[in-house]
Amino acid sequence: MRKFLAVPLAAVAFLSFAATITRAQEVAQTPPMGWNSWNYFASKVDDKGVRAAADEIVSTGMKDAGYIYVNIDDTWQGKRDENGVLHANEKFPDMKALADYVHSKGLKLGIYSGPGNLTCAKYAGSLGHEEQDAKTYAEWGIDYLKYDLCSFREDTMAKQAPDDKAAQMKLMHAAYEKMGKALKATGRPIVYSLCQYGWDAVWEWAPALGGNLWRTTGDIQANWNSMYTILSQQEGLQSYAGPGHWNDPDMLEVGNGRLNIHENRSHFSMWAMLAAPLLAGNDLPNMKPEVKEILTNKDVIAIDQDKLGKQASRIYSEGEVDVWERDLAGGAKAIAVLNAGSDRVATHPFHLSLEKLGLHGPQKGKDLWSGKDLTLTDNMPIELASHDILLVRIGANGQ
Ligand code: GAL
Repeated sequence: MRKFLAVPLAAVAFLSFAATITRAQEVAQTPPMGWNSWNYFASKVDDKGVRAAADEIVSTGMKDAGYIYVNIDDTWQGKRDENGVLHANEKFPDMKALADYVHSKGLKLGIYSGPGNLTCAKYAGSLGHEEQDAKTYAEWGIDYLKYDLCSFREDTMAKQAPDDKAAQMKLMHAAYEKMGKALKATGRPIVYSLCQYGWDAVWEWAPALGGNLWRTTGDIQANWNSMYTILSQQEGLQSYAGPGHWNDPDMLEVGNGRLNIHENRSHFSMWAMLAAPLLAGNDLPNMKPEVKEILTNKDVIAIDQDKLGKQASRIYSEGEVDVWERDLAGGAKAIAVLNAGSDRVATHPFHLSLEKLGLHGPQKGKDLWSGKDLTLTDNMPIELASHDILLVRIGANGQ
């Protein structure tokens, strides 16, 4: 009798384990979209600010445009109690109530931690409490975790394997794997975002650990050089992106710092070309209309969210102009012509080569910023303001 029962029970356990895995993998089938507190608010994030961001995401139409995750970054953590359970600090009086509020708006809530003792801003990390923290997040109703390496380098990697880079990297993999498993074990679908600045070719091993996205570089800043440097570093990574697992060139700086309108447009267009997560990082309650217009351009968002999930490649550069191309579902394509130069026109007049793009004959399409129809022809002159972009969708769905 005992034996008879054991088999079905094992089968049930296996099936529910398999269902858990499937659920976890189903998240982020397109690049996650939402908002994160860090780029603008940094340590000034609090419950009120997160609720205001959620309200704005709805009232500005961002939710309808696809922005769903409202992500609290560093500095929310308080102290662990006598059982090791982590509580939020006084800026977040009731995390579960906050999650309920965000969910009531049809949005999802994200949170931040790291594998070390301390996060980058020196708040409590998850070292030694991984399962416990994952359970706490699930109990609160958290839907997304950004897990940032920070002090794990000193706490563990440097201490346990001084001068042994390979051993340090193994420790890092194990730490990310541990949290990946802990999240899965909660049974709650939680997007898992790795943040370790692209070390050790993270794109090669993150998906196997349950990673849905991984930062490919150091931190972005709200200026052209930072954005353009990060953009250039995405070349060669395109084969690693796809449904459920994405390269993350960092959160958006659209509307922040010194980026002008052209630069904001180019930044947003190129993140869409890269199939990057679109996590706005600006002050939503004080967003300028032109910034809102950029962040809610549905045609550009459709490029990012295209279900094929194919990241763009830089096909060629001429002078200071870069030409990128991305394949889209249904045989369509997106083409971006970016003037990375600091002068009004590039170093010499730019003419688009369709041949270099593997295209033959005139290509009917749509200019996604003017909203107008546009036909690309071979050798056509394209004049762009400094740091501006032409983003065109051609082919099946673009006609
Ligand atoms: C950095 C991370 C940033 C932000 C910050 C918080 O390591 O790259 O995106 O999360 O930590 O302290």
